[in-house]
Amino acid sequence: MEKEFLVYKSGELVFAAGGTEFKLSQLTKNYQGPVFFYNLDLIRERVAQMQGALKDVRLFYALKANSHPDVLKVFKNNGVGIDVVSGGEIQHAVKCGFSYKQLVYSGVGKTRKELELAIRNDIHQINVESIPELQRIGEMAKSLNKKSNVVFRINPDISIKSHPYIATGLKDSKFGIDFGQLNDVIAAAKQHAGSIAVKGISLHLGSQMLDFSSLKDSLAKLKPLFLQLRKEFPECHRFDFGGGLGIHYEKQDLISENDLLKKYAAVVFSELESLKKDIPGIEIQSEPGRWLVGHCGVLISQVQYVKKTPHKEFIILDSGMNHLLRPSLYEAYHSIHAMKDSGSLKTYDVVGPICESADFFGKDRDLNEVKQDDFVVVRDCGAYAATMSSDYNLQERALEVSTADFQ
Ligand SMILES: Cc1ncc(COP(=O)(O)O)c(C=O)c1O
Repeated sequence: MEKEFLVYKSGELVFAAGGTEFKLSQLTKNYQGPVFFYNLDLIRERVAQMQGALKDVRLFYALKANSHPDVLKVFKNNGVGIDVVSGGEIQHAVKCGFSYKQLVYSGVGKTRKELELAIRNDIHQINVESIPELQRIGEMAKSLNKKSNVVFRINPDISIKSHPYIATGLKDSKFGIDFGQLNDVIAAAKQHAGSIAVKGISLHLGSQMLDFSSLKDSLAKLKPLFLQLRKEFPECHRFDFGGGLGIHYEKQDLISENDLLKKYAAVVFSELESLKKDIPGIEIQSEPGRWLVGHCGVLISQVQYVKKTPHKEFIILDSGMNHLLRPSLYEAYHSIHAMKDSGSLKTYDVVGPICESADFFGKDRDLNEVKQDDFVVVRDCGAYAATMSSDYNLQERALEVSTADFQ
């Protein structure tokens, strides 16, 4: 594994992974508009690393991060299940070859129509986020003559150091069942004992976690709840600690991220080891997204204008917040590179065509000097990029391609 995956070779950007180098300028031949490109070799490497570090943990990839069929195929071929959050995601996963037994279904607003799809097809697990949702599942499963496997997503009231929009574990957040409502949930589940099987507990603290003290505290807080649930429901044997492992956006350092993964695994195992010892057959599950796919993607876009004012120099691209929303939504940082190494750097604001001042990819960025019709590459667009795109301003969606299209 190399530390850096996006590097200039002979003056051009290449994407290096799995022992091969992919020249990104190939994607600009017959250019019709912005392109997301996914390097599947890098995803394969990441899956192997995570499966190695989180040994005996069953992984369910969070499809919301990147739903491209080629990406999903890598997970399918490596025995990874899928975490879904809508009927649309369930149908997409099934279309891409996953069985319902490989799906974990999260989300606070599951509709009757969506739940019917999940319950009828005996989905592996529904992560229940509220008491009314539990009641709805109980009633529906009864009328469909089914017994539904549920786990309770508990909100531990613990915050992570991340952007507030991607932290989900505080008591004023809409996610999960309040820590103090366990007895009410148990009572509600007992009322529906014929149609609900309580299989365990789940947690998801939020995304882009680079420090694991909150995860450690949350696991410690949830363990007694899990044991209490087991007393009430003997079939309770799953502990799902969610996703959230972060990546570095400001630097390229795959080696230090592998160390981060090992630290993450050490925290999980140190907290859950006692359960593993005491409960034969316990199933530990995780729902990673960003860590697996974040670095695998780039967004390629063409310079429409280089606009100089007395105050600024702008690169105006044919891609903006309609394709990559993260900078506008969370002020997220994405590294931006010129496709060609021109030998001289310039400072630019890199912006899109959308009629919003929030439509920028980066401000005051030093890039190799570009001119009209040159190409720009935005790094780390493998997660929460294409899946968060919109048709705003009726701009066309970006094309999505992968290394599989070039074999
Ligand atoms: C319930 C749930 N699980 C897993 C994930 C994946 O998180 P990440 O991509 O940060 O690993 C998310 C992301 O929002 C989520 O909501």
